[in-house]
Amino acid sequence: MIRSVITGFGHAFPKRVVTNQELEKTVDTNDAWIVQRTGIKQRHIAGEGETSASLGEAAGRKAMERAGVTADDLDMIIVATTTPDNTFPSTAVNIQNRLGMKHGAAFDLQAVCSGFIFALTSADMYLRSGQAKRILVIGAETMSKLIDWEDRTTCVLFGDGAGAVVLEAQEGRGLTSDRGILSAHLRSDGSHKDKLFVDGGPSTTQTVGHLRMQGREVFKHAVGMITDVIEDAFAATQMDAESIDWFIPHQANKRIIDASAKKLNIDPSKVVINVDQTGNTSAASIPIALSQTAESGRIEEGQTILLEAMGGGFTWGAVLLRW
Ligand code: UT7
Repeated sequence: MIRSVITGFGHAFPKRVVTNQELEKTVDTNDAWIVQRTGIKQRHIAGEGETSASLGEAAGRKAMERAGVTADDLDMIIVATTTPDNTFPSTAVNIQNRLGMKHGAAFDLQAVCSGFIFALTSADMYLRSGQAKRILVIGAETMSKLIDWEDRTTCVLFGDGAGAVVLEAQEGRGLTSDRGILSAHLRSDGSHKDKLFVDGGPSTTQTVGHLRMQGREVFKHAVGMITDVIEDAFAATQMDAESIDWFIPHQANKRIIDASAKKLNIDPSKVVINVDQTGNTSAASIPIALSQTAESGRIEEGQTILLEAMGGGFTWGAVLLRW
């Protein structure tokens, strides 16, 4: 049985860091409110020349270097992004071109904050069906470009960055002791589309628009949706919170992460949290957190990792894998 194994990882941030204290100078907010309600202390904000494609390229190059591969060795690039450099062509073909890759296929995938989970799951399908052997999966965002910087209810929450993994087809035995993706679960429910959205687009306003969110409404649904889909992953693999070595959730709000971990009985020592340093980087948040944790040397081969995300749409999902 073919398993999709992560063989390389990387992440990249814009140079500029914006602290809560800096935001206090431009909107009616304060560090204590932001930290207490979200856990966020700072975020990276893209400057001149820093785009989703440039950040995605940087993260992708690091992942490829760690995997010991070049663009010649890739069959496909999938980029999860809500903030493409251009409406078209895709950020994925932009990155493909930057990497000097002329073969294979590259495309973007849009599922907002759940984008990386959807992209990883899609890549897993291409690998397991034999259509590709090695795929670069990137989450890259410049959420700062969608923010209304006068709206204190949203502008304090988001940040920019990119993360990437190289996913490779390897022979497994079909057991949960295999390395690679063991189970992936995707969900969406468009009846919630007006709770978290951008109020513009080519087909409606011909503008990029700004991010709008009914924060409390999103919060209300988040924990239930996240824990439901994780229970599906547990059921499919006959695993449970005990069998998980690392829980790497989407980083939107520390309170949502803590409440989800608690409901699932996942020990806090297994929960990766970097939202304090990054803010919500949408589709980039999981691969950034994964890359940082792996880079620190804390993840050992053979350990289990549970990834989950929930965001605009609503979309949500979980991936359970063995490192
Ligand atoms: O990526 C996935 C998508 N996003 C999320 O998962 C976000 C989900 N939602 C949340 O994380 C939280 O709902 C927020 C962090 C957005 C807000 O926290 P909350 O505890 O739900 O606060 P709230 O929206 O109920 O607002 C409480 C108060 C309000 O004042 P009043 O009406 O009680 O007088 C807000 O106006 O806090 C006020 N407020 C602020 N105060 C200082 C809202 N934003 C700010 C701010 N600074 N930045």
